[in-house]
Amino acid sequence: MSSDSSNTSPANQAIGTMRRPPLSRNIDVSTLVDADKGLIDRSIYTNEEIYGQEMRRIFARNWLFLAHTSQFQKPGDFFTTFMGEDPVLVAMDKQKNIRAYLNSCRHRGVRLCRADEGRTKMFTCTYHGWSFDLAGALQSVPNQDAYPEDFQKENWGLIEVPSLAVYKGLIFGSWDPDAEPLEETLGDMRYYMDAMLDRDPEGTEVVGGVMKWQLEGNWKLAAEQFATDWYHVNMSHASALMVLSPTGKGPKPEVVATPGRQYLSPKGHGAGFPTHPKSRFDAAPVHEYYDYDALRERLGDERVEGPLTTGHATVFPSFSYLPVNGSIRVWHPKGPDKMEVWAWILVDKSMPQEVKDAQRLYNLRTFGPSGIFEADDGENWSEVQAISHGFVTNSVPLNFQMGVGSEREDGVYPGTTSELYSDAAGRSFYRHWATQMNTPAWHETQHKTAEDQAESDQ
Ligand code: FES
Ligand SMILES: [Fe+2]
Repeated sequence: MSSDSSNTSPANQAIGTMRRPPLSRNIDVSTLVDADKGLIDRSIYTNEEIYGQEMRRIFARNWLFLAHTSQFQKPGDFFTTFMGEDPVLVAMDKQKNIRAYLNSCRHRGVRLCRADEGRTKMFTCTYHGWSFDLAGALQSVPNQDAYPEDFQKENWGLIEVPSLAVYKGLIFGSWDPDAEPLEETLGDMRYYMDAMLDRDPEGTEVVGGVMKWQLEGNWKLAAEQFATDWYHVNMSHASALMVLSPTGKGPKPEVVATPGRQYLSPKGHGAGFPTHPKSRFDAAPVHEYYDYDALRERLGDERVEGPLTTGHATVFPSFSYLPVNGSIRVWHPKGPDKMEVWAWILVDKSMPQEVKDAQRLYNLRTFGPSGIFEADDGENWSEVQAISHGFVTNSVPLNFQMGVGSEREDGVYPGTTSELYSDAAGRSFYRHWATQMNTPAWHETQHKTAEDQAESDQ
């Protein structure tokens, strides 16, 4: 598959062709995020209009994680997912290119493919029977002779996600036809991601299907926590840590006080990790499988002693991962108050089956839908959300002040870093969020006639 392919099909010309009156106003969010002082207004988690603006300016603009390349082996393999609330169908075409389409029939808009995943030659709509091939072209229309003569099938192909790129097995798509290259958007974040994606020359694959569950809570509560929040680990996960600790007593004080770093990206990504020379994977067979000398050779001592194992990360806006158990996940927004978590389990392709199994089981025990850590996190987010609509509650700002002023280049880890216990990556996550929320996206600046412009300026 080519990476960074940019494609604008004739069908995509349909985006925005109907002239619409202004259906929504844009809210200036600059006073809701004070990234310098570390203050966040709670309305960004609850307000319907802000949520709508996120759909337009965050999710219809950014590179979003769609799937892993190992999910597509043969032409016709497909997987259905979402970009924001837009349903998307990812499929391998006859030339073995992975492509993504809006999963909505061009006729009357029903979801074209309702299966989660599978293999097919054609996508046939269950409503009236229009059929589309793997390249998104409309191939057959029942009773076509009843349509006007100027009806042309090529104008009614699937809307294609115009920008698609792969980073070490991770497939990302963007609705922006002129999206900056994915690698540029990731920047230094690649160094931290490679601690999970590039341990082995053969790369990674996903095992065991995709786990999906819903949580009450705004999607940002999860995305931001995975970017910045090691702080909650010792308190929120105290009982889980006790269960896992050999003594049954939970983490020792020196573990709680462990040194570490947190990376913050100007593009809103974040990653945090303790640093200690005795890095190890928590699933014993995985720990025993790895040749740490080889890993040090491949990734460097600092990366093995830092982001390789324990840690957390978010690629802005909504893709997060945990290197220790290969959990990669998307926080799909489902309204301001709800998110759907989709989680995959990532392993090295070259691992023996029993090591892959051990990683999968460890992942399920800890961060599966009923994992002992996952349950703690979901409980926190839904607790925050449940009370956030109270008028007074909603008007009291939240605190992101830990480590204010600690951001610097540390000379060891790339980019700007802070301490392990810090809100620095959270502040930069929201700083970037606010910038994007206040900046028109591609669909607001392209395809505009002078007439449209005059109307929106009024
Ligand atoms: S909605 Fe798909 S064929 Fe009519
Ligand atoms: Fe957690």
